[in-house]
Amino acid sequence: MKTRVTEILGIKYPIMQGGMQVLGEPGLASAVSEAGGLGTINAATFPDYDEFREAIREVKRRTDKPFCVNISLIPDVPHDTYFNQLEIMVEEGAHIVETAGANPRDFVPFFKDHGFTWIHKAPTVKHALKGQELGADIVTVVGYEVGGHPGADELCGNVLVHHAAQALDIPVLAAGGYVDGQGLIAALALGAEGITMGTRFVATKECCCHENFKQWIVGANEKDTKIIQRSIHNMMRAANNAAARKCLEMEAQGATLQELMTVIAGRIGRECYKTGDTDGGIFPVGQAIGLIEDIPSCADLLESIMKEAEETRARIANI
Ligand SMILES: Cc1cc2nc3c(=O)[nH]c(=O)nc-3n(C[C@H](O)[C@H](O)[C@H](O)COP(=O)(O)O)c2cc1C
Repeated sequence: MKTRVTEILGIKYPIMQGGMQVLGEPGLASAVSEAGGLGTINAATFPDYDEFREAIREVKRRTDKPFCVNISLIPDVPHDTYFNQLEIMVEEGAHIVETAGANPRDFVPFFKDHGFTWIHKAPTVKHALKGQELGADIVTVVGYEVGGHPGADELCGNVLVHHAAQALDIPVLAAGGYVDGQGLIAALALGAEGITMGTRFVATKECCCHENFKQWIVGANEKDTKIIQRSIHNMMRAANNAAARKCLEMEAQGATLQELMTVIAGRIGRECYKTGDTDGGIFPVGQAIGLIEDIPSCADLLESIMKEAEETRARIANI
């Protein structure tokens, strides 16, 4: 299947693994890329520059296919941190970047000077158009169903993807709730040229989290997520577990960011991914959990998505 997304990225299937803090590491990213999609490591997953550099090298040892690096821009983090990460990408020959979070404007000249392919993630058509205006090659639009951070406007993917595809000249990737071939064809029908998945890739053999988290996803339905962190203007869709409920309770009582950090801090979630404590920390997942019933390898997953996409296309053609 060819779209402008597969052409620009040099990949076989129009399927991207979006950046995932802690879980976006070389094992998963290389498995996705090797299977024909676009795998992604997160720069912020690695504690220092040396480990980030080593992670890029590890992906390249495991696959010679294209892969991406997610840089999630946080306003309080000095620009130098990101520029240092980008320099390492150049030195190590990693030239596909996914940005998310704060305004990427200051980094665009670097992307252009170094021949990067730039995918920008946006929660509204306005932000998507801004990405296009700044020079993004592809925009990923994320609907409210999404695992991780949905936009504050709470826009559902169906309208958002359709409108973004109409409004933009550059190709759109649809994100939020996609897990299978039917979803891929639906996204293409709305005008997107591929899908970005996060939650689906957590429940794969190669994802580094403890098996308990994968089984939790398989056992959950689409009602089992909560939107937390509204009070600190950093909304997050996460598993409805004890940590998320504690966070909501504290928010209702007017807790400060510092107080909330005792529950939502990334280091707690990271530890839980290792120990298998699915209640102990915040576990970002999207409503897609309602559609996930197995834990395949990335290769089997992508093959089954593409097979189902072809079947869906044929079924629709007969209507
Ligand atoms: C566990 C997890 C962690 C995530 N961490 C990040 C992140 O650090 N940066 C980012 O841009 N997106 C992050 N995302 C969002 C994904 O890149 C992707 O946009 C999203 O998962 C797509 O929606 P879906 O979960 O419904 O497939 C995360 C998603 C999950 C499930």
